[in-house]
Amino acid sequence: MAIVISNEISAVLLKIAVLPGDGVGPEVTAEAMRVLEAAALAFGHGLDLSFKEIGGSAIKRFGVPLPDETLEACLASSAVLMGAVGDPAFDAFPLEARPESALLGLRRELGAFANLRPAVAFQSLLGSSPLRRSIVEGTDVLIVRELLGGLYFGEPRGASSGECSPEAFNTMRYNAGEIERVAVMAFELARARRSKVTSVDKANVLECSRLWRQTVSRIAEDYPDVEIEHQYVDSCAMALVSRPSSFDVILTENMFGDILSDEAGAVVGSLGLLASASIGGAVGLFEPVHGSAPDIAGRGIANPLGAILSVAMMFRHSFHLDNEAASIERAVEKTLAEGFRTRDLVEDQSDWRTTFEMGTRVAECVREIKPQKGARAT
Ligand code: IPM
Ligand code: MN
Repeated sequence: MAIVISNEISAVLLKIAVLPGDGVGPEVTAEAMRVLEAAALAFGHGLDLSFKEIGGSAIKRFGVPLPDETLEACLASSAVLMGAVGDPAFDAFPLEARPESALLGLRRELGAFANLRPAVAFQSLLGSSPLRRSIVEGTDVLIVRELLGGLYFGEPRGASSGECSPEAFNTMRYNAGEIERVAVMAFELARARRSKVTSVDKANVLECSRLWRQTVSRIAEDYPDVEIEHQYVDSCAMALVSRPSSFDVILTENMFGDILSDEAGAVVGSLGLLASASIGGAVGLFEPVHGSAPDIAGRGIANPLGAILSVAMMFRHSFHLDNEAASIERAVEKTLAEGFRTRDLVEDQSDWRTTFEMGTRVAECVREIKPQKGARAT
């Protein structure tokens, strides 16, 4: 479906596949879409959108979590905006038939090997962090998570009845090429930030991590202007809550990155704030980090900012429209500075706004904020 929202000749036609998905996915995606439309209109771009099913909602309608027509629409677009996948109704299904397998398959089909997850402590949200203000203040970390390797995809994998009791196994597996390409991405991104990369591994125990450390060290030689440090994942998990502002770019493998990014979300106030970009292939995938949260779905309490900030990342990374991205980021900052809070961000459970109210205010701010130069690089 094509929607033309501007009569002017557009600077760019933004061709986007939109996959609302499961749980809170559709609610937060609806707000992200309103902000996307506001930004497109403000900057004179056109939108060519195709809405498709993924995850549990696709299983219900088509019997599979990633229907061909969804994948085809994604591959035919310039970017994919996703809400979330995951539905407890399918908990008993085999792994390959569960909603989550659609997301893993989509990442693989898109060739999205680098997952960028920025966690920024907004000044007006310092009180929302479970950590002391003095510790969280100044935190601005970009987690670069390898997305197509490690335990998530490693073969062999499986489960059997075993000789004495049921057994299951997965394989953590990387080759140097897979590590190199994501390391290069992290160093390049660090250069546009504060020029520091913390590479996270478990090289005191795992062969995979030894290869990770060797390979990252070799790539680091090409970036003498970027500071490199190596940290074990357990120590990094602790440092992320004791001195989060000391990090710039954290580079790590798939599973460690999944875990550390949820932790980073809590540090800056709520996982609901975190956006992500999965890039490296021809088409980028943009989604909030928080997941489907079925327990709060349909109640108007989900935080749409992670989804909205994912639209900003889409402008920056897929369309190279930094001013558009910055205008959305400024609108989010302004909305928060005005005191707007979804329920996850308030301490006393009193004065909070609905998902819709939050999205409405951010979209208004996008319209109010004049296009400016000087975009942040995440
Ligand atoms: C995430 C999610 C996914 C992951 C799940 C839903 C497969 O937790 O994006 O962090 O583990 O990558
Ligand atoms: Mn996760």
